[in-house]
Amino acid sequence: MMRDADPSPVRLADYRPPDWLVDTVDLDISLHPTATVIRARLGMRPNPVGREGSPIVLDGDELVLKSLTLDGERLAGNAYSVTPSSLTLLAPPQRPLVLEIETRLDPSANTKLMGLYRSSGTYCTQCEAEGFRRITYFPDRPDVLAVYTTRIEAERAEAPVLLGNGNKVEEGEVPGTDRHFAVWHDPWPKPCYLFALVGGRLDRISDRFVTATGREVELGIYVEPGKTARAGYAMDALKRSMRWDEEVFGCEYDLDVFNIVAVADFNMGAMENKGLNVFNDKYVLATPETATDNDYASIEGIIAHEYFHNWTGNRITCRDWFQLCLKEGLTVFRDQEFSSDQRSRPVKRIIDVRLLKAYQFSEDAGPLAHPVRPSTYREINNFYTATVYEKGAEVVRMLKTLLGPEGFRNGMDLYFERHDGQAATIEDFLACFADATGTDLAHFALWYAQSGTPQLTVTGEWNPAENSYRLDVEQTLPPTPGQPDKQPMLIPLAIGLVSPSGEDLPLTLADGTSPAGGVLTIDSARHSFVFRDVPERPVPSLNRGFSAPVRLASNLSTEDLVFLARHDRDPFNRFEAVQTIAFAYLIEATQAVSSGRNLPGPEALIAAMAASLADPALDPAFVGQVLTVPSEGDIAREIGRDVDPDAVYAARRNLRRAIGTALADPLAGAFERFAAPGPYSPDAASAGRRTLRNTCLGLLAEAGTGDGIARALGLYRAADNMTDRLQALMTLVHYAPEQRDEALGDFYERFRDDPLVIDKWFGIQAQIAEPATLDRVRELTGHPAFSMRNPNRVRALIGSFATGNPTQFNRADGAGFNFLTDTVLDLDSANPQLAARLLGAFKSWRVLEAGRRIQAEAALRRVARTSGLSPDVTDIVTRSLA
Ligand code: PHE
Ligand code: ZN
Repeated sequence: MMRDADPSPVRLADYRPPDWLVDTVDLDISLHPTATVIRARLGMRPNPVGREGSPIVLDGDELVLKSLTLDGERLAGNAYSVTPSSLTLLAPPQRPLVLEIETRLDPSANTKLMGLYRSSGTYCTQCEAEGFRRITYFPDRPDVLAVYTTRIEAERAEAPVLLGNGNKVEEGEVPGTDRHFAVWHDPWPKPCYLFALVGGRLDRISDRFVTATGREVELGIYVEPGKTARAGYAMDALKRSMRWDEEVFGCEYDLDVFNIVAVADFNMGAMENKGLNVFNDKYVLATPETATDNDYASIEGIIAHEYFHNWTGNRITCRDWFQLCLKEGLTVFRDQEFSSDQRSRPVKRIIDVRLLKAYQFSEDAGPLAHPVRPSTYREINNFYTATVYEKGAEVVRMLKTLLGPEGFRNGMDLYFERHDGQAATIEDFLACFADATGTDLAHFALWYAQSGTPQLTVTGEWNPAENSYRLDVEQTLPPTPGQPDKQPMLIPLAIGLVSPSGEDLPLTLADGTSPAGGVLTIDSARHSFVFRDVPERPVPSLNRGFSAPVRLASNLSTEDLVFLARHDRDPFNRFEAVQTIAFAYLIEATQAVSSGRNLPGPEALIAAMAASLADPALDPAFVGQVLTVPSEGDIAREIGRDVDPDAVYAARRNLRRAIGTALADPLAGAFERFAAPGPYSPDAASAGRRTLRNTCLGLLAEAGTGDGIARALGLYRAADNMTDRLQALMTLVHYAPEQRDEALGDFYERFRDDPLVIDKWFGIQAQIAEPATLDRVRELTGHPAFSMRNPNRVRALIGSFATGNPTQFNRADGAGFNFLTDTVLDLDSANPQLAARLLGAFKSWRVLEAGRRIQAEAALRRVARTSGLSPDVTDIVTRSLA
């Protein structure tokens, strides 16, 4: 039986501590492909702060109860009530007691990939957020912390490797059978969502790490047989993460073993189970021939992210799921900082802000907008969002900007000291920073509660008579679902005043003070700042480093932006200046396309790009970013209403052609100059050269200049790495249709046995901006390499179509929308989480022009009318239509 399709929402305001606590969990799990038996012994006691005399209510999901005892005695049938979704002991004795529960389940039939399931024959688990209740009846909430001991037993031939949380304390044969067992003990109390086990035939690479205090940790990465050669980079990233967390946050690892297992079937990126991280194999496996530079960067970032959860998430966990950003926003911030230290900090910031705007700003502007800490939800699975993760990380970053590096570190130290071993809240977190630095953070806390992206309008004016410069800042916050009226936020706005010679002027306010670190604090709807001793007209550099996740409009002219692009000492704003020019141009050009007017000239933009390209002092990775024209999605988001995706597409292509034409020589020159010497290396400097080179190649090929197509063909054939080969393939597929089939055929033959690479092949085809693509995608769903049961395949083909092909997903005839909703309905009963995520592709449907909007709405209404939908899809479709 499924859970109720439309349970009443869960509200933060209704939080109550649990009535019963669980101190110890002893599990005995006997693995079997279709009939796994789970015996759970729960050492429980009434919570001193719970309601007295309350029943014991345990959660369950699709469970079959085999037996139940209390302190070793079988319970009378009228002492408890049981359903597939709950087990209630009606009048338990109000003292410490031991419950023993036996359940049975079928891991092979578990297509939801939540709870205990099989991935290519390997037994594995996924318990966040509410999967443990699919293994045994349990108070499945993160504020119940217990010490777990897990005995895992399996047929040795089927599962020679048996892994659990913590340290292995025993193993052996089961006499008289072909079965064996292992016992794992995790001394650290944890919520059940961090429970994990793995059983299977897996190969391993191992290594060791000596912690700052000299303890030795055994590291293992487990992969499908034959794939160990692909796990080396992940291991390297793990060791670097462990060292970095000691050095930067003072966090040391706390068990004797740290294991990572890569599985092929996984709903998300990876999972931070205590001492036993489980990964989507896409974020572990890499060789130069099969993984791109971006894949390597993702592996590094996600390995770090999951490892960092050991302190931010595991040692200190969340009181309830409303506090999800407590672990996720903070841990994303930590992984971003790690990658910034390992790579180029400015380029990392540019990439992160691009992603933030692409996913989070668009979420914030649409029907699925919600606060970083929501106050209500119907399905928690749907809140693993860009807002909770990426905006949550921005909020932590702002905290650091406001308090300074030392204040921030002191606050973090206090957080670890005060809340270690606890299930904490955002209030607890903020109180540590307030107490450590003596700062009142009450106003700042609104970032967690108010959804929507603040809009800042900044007007700057130089007063030559008074030698002063005045900045007027106005903030507004748009209404979002459930939040019609907003209060002004507290916004840290990092700025500079750049003199005509390119120097930063000292920032001295009228009263003689200087804003610390050049950061202005905006805390009301309007704010004016007057800087004195400004003898020449400066250009203000606003929101440096993207100090606040806001939309910014200013009275800077194109000339001012061109000036900043060359002279700002803040690299992020040099980049952003070019982007701002590009957006203004593209918005105007899109309108021109729609109304059949002549296109404006992009000369200023091209000149700014040319200057970057010609500046030998700049990091190639940075120049690559400057030359990357905003995506169709970015442009649509900035236009904000009545968007015609075909016009956006045409405007963008025209611009890229103009760039490729005007800069044919320097682009071709850069393509030659930045060829990487020697064999492939995934390091940031080499990757940056490839980014720049391949960006140049794309512009040349699109414009039909500089032998772009011939160069792409050459690169495809000669490539010794996936970054170049894939980029060359994409270039051919998009800009040389006559080469398309041959190139795709060759690629398929080379990599046909490699599912993760074939995902790239699916993705490229799904993104071709032509009307025939929908049929192609439909046909590919029948390809032998495709499977609706594997989330990576589904995302590669159908996800790429829905989120990476704006003209075809948003076809005027609605066929793209209907294809997606058909797929969602198809998938829903097997894997509701994946179905709901796909349906999220509609998150910006309201910004479309009227004809497409009507089609999108009709497709969504068709879903809403369907009976038997999962809670996951019901929640997304209901909110999308609200
Ligand atoms: N907690 C995981 C992470 O962010 C994400 C995740 C959530 C994975 C739910 C699986 C299920 O690191
Ligand atoms: Zn996380």
